[in-house]
Parts: sequence; C-alpha cells; structure tokens
Amino acid sequence: MIRPIVAYGDPVLKRAGDPIDLEGDTSWLQELIDDMYETLYNAHGVGLAAPQVGESLRLFITDASAYADQEEEMEPLRDFKEAFINPEIVEEDGEDWSFEEGCLSIPGIREEVDRSPLVRIRYYDRDLQLQDKRYQGLAARIVQHEYDHIEGTLFTEHLGPLKKRLIKRKLKDISEGKVDVDYRMRFPSTKKVKR
Ligand code: NI
Repeated sequence: MIRPIVAYGDPVLKRAGDPIDLEGDTSWLQELIDDMYETLYNAHGVGLAAPQVGESLRLFITDASAYADQEEEMEPLRDFKEAFINPEIVEEDGEDWSFEEGCLSIPGIREEVDRSPLVRIRYYDRDLQLQDKRYQGLAARIVQHEYDHIEGTLFTEHLGPLKKRLIKRKLKDISEGKVDVDYRMRFPSTKKVKR
C-alpha cells in the first residue's frame, strides 16, 4: 500500500524514532517495509525513513538501483537495496565532501550538504539478521541522510544560516501544502492528503 509521505513541518519528522521490538510477531514490520518500498518507488526516491510515513520508529529503507541504471559511475549503487532496522552508526570517517541532496518530505528544495565519505553501521536486515557493514560515497550519504531522519534531523538543518534564511519561505509553503508534487503527501497544517 502506498502511504502518503509526511511533509516538512510535521512533528513526527522532528522526533527520534523508537527502537523496534524484534521479539515475537514481526509480520507488521514486514508489511510496513513493503509499504515503504511501494511508497519509495511511487515517489522515485532512493531512500525512505519510517517517520516519513508517520511511524516514529528506527527503520529506513534504500534502493538506488534506478540511479545505477541512469549513470555508469552510479553502478556501485546497483545492489544498494537494504532495510535498516534498529540501526546504529558506529563510525564515520574521512574528509567531509559536499553533494546536493533532496528529500521526499521537502519537495522542490535541493541543497549541498557536507558529510563524511565513510560510514560503518550496525543494523538488523529484513530477515532480522544482525549486520555490520561499511558504506562509502553516495551509499554512505544515503545511509547518513536516512539515519538522520530516525534521529529527528532533516538535511536542511545541516545548512548554514544564510542558506537557511533563503529557504525559509519555501519551507513554510511546503508545511502549508503550497507545493506541487506528483506523489501523495500529508501536510501538517491542513492534515489534508493531496492526490
Ligand atoms: Ni529525506
């Protein structure tokens, strides 16, 4: 089931997600992950965190294979389809690099964000197996962006004061639903689902 994506301004995006209880029946979790993938593909994104569909949980998913189809240098992203359950970033390394990011909860805004090029993350995968993996470059960036979501942080919070001031109006418009998007969104001020 495609779920509406929560727009900027909703308090769920500012809240740190709760850890997921992996004891007992987790069929609801498999369903949620299925819903999140449907929602991600429908919106043509590369990553989606549970708070973005209104669930305040430590969970995010990625799939950047569409990127890999577009450009040759994105080929390493081909197999970057993963569900990250109860993840913990245990290490970040390397000299910060800048790259333009966007977010499905903040349509129409793209800005350069500085992040470490290397990340090591421990998490449970979809089969509830404990993983400890290193990612680099764009994959690391996607992990960091989505991980931020489950900590209640949006990429716009990494911007400098000038940039923040420049996008303030646009952010307000998004929170009020004054934005064109081609996927379903839920806006905080109106509680209205568009499309
Ligand atoms: Ni995002």
